[in-house]
Amino acid sequence: MIGLLRNQISSYSNRGINHNELSMKSPEFQPISAVAHPNIAFIKYWGNRDQELRLPLNSSLSMNLSGLETLTTARFDPALDHDIFILSGENVVGPALERVSRFLDHVRSLANTNVYAHVESQNNFPAGAGIASSASAFAALAMAASHAIGLNLDEKDLSRLARRGSGSASRSIPNGFVEWQAGTSDADSFAFSISPADYWDLVDLICVLDTTPKFVGSTGGHALASSSPLQPLRLAHVKDRLEQCRKAILVKDFESFAQVVEEDSHLMHAVMRTSNPPLHYWVPETEIVLWNVLTWRKEGVPACCTVDAGPNVHVLVLSDYAAAVGARLAELPGVQKILKAYPGPGASLV
Ligand code: PMV
Repeated sequence: MIGLLRNQISSYSNRGINHNELSMKSPEFQPISAVAHPNIAFIKYWGNRDQELRLPLNSSLSMNLSGLETLTTARFDPALDHDIFILSGENVVGPALERVSRFLDHVRSLANTNVYAHVESQNNFPAGAGIASSASAFAALAMAASHAIGLNLDEKDLSRLARRGSGSASRSIPNGFVEWQAGTSDADSFAFSISPADYWDLVDLICVLDTTPKFVGSTGGHALASSSPLQPLRLAHVKDRLEQCRKAILVKDFESFAQVVEEDSHLMHAVMRTSNPPLHYWVPETEIVLWNVLTWRKEGVPACCTVDAGPNVHVLVLSDYAAAVGARLAELPGVQKILKAYPGPGASLV
């Protein structure tokens, strides 16, 4: 699938441009393709202190998901009178195009130009499967668009740029296991790798339970976070949880990792459920998966769960146990499909 996606680059990234045209254009206006992976947060980001700049209320920690990817090609074109965004072959209009265009406005302001862009993107994973595609989408777009417009940003500035599209996208820029420091301002709110993808043999078994589109997306959810009386409580000890999680990864202590990952996920969902209006993302089968995985862990199986803004459960397991746990999960009621992902690299040009 991924090979297929990549083979399509040459066909779509040069669409509409012949070789003579290309040689007439300045080098910064050539099409550039980039690939990025979604990530799963072990210590969650929920709530912004600056919604516009997407400055988070707390630092977070995640793992990039190899095997799942977004491939994006950006081409700035002086002949265009507006941005064009093609997703999976479909011309996107309305709020999704506006969000991409606002992001491109920021790229243009950094490059001091007003040239519009043609952006073409596709994911190799299904929409609505409990995988935040906005993270890989804006990480790939940040990398492709910044290069296509002639900016040569380092990893830190790419992460800051990706953050402006979607907070969690900042974490899809660096490699492997990644921490996004909340920072004090736009300048120091960026993500960095704490260990490379091949550091720890974790597997993420994503149990797809329900693919109905979310009633409130994460941007809307962040805006509601502070209406929950539990949000201050969640934030009070998030630094300790992040430290415990970082340390557990670095020393490969699965038991400590599992305890803190589940606690952090439950705290985020407690905030969601007690916000005004409340956000209930789970379906009954979500609880069934959580309960079973907890029971298996008590029996000695190294597996734990985390859930993002949706009903689907990410079951994290040491790779030696992935096949056995996957087989057990497939037997549980409501499990429609299991996607398998490994610790993944950061975003890269193709
Ligand atoms: O980056 P956003 O705005 O899609 O927010 C992501 C929110 C969660 O996925 C629920 C948590 C996280 O840290 O990724």
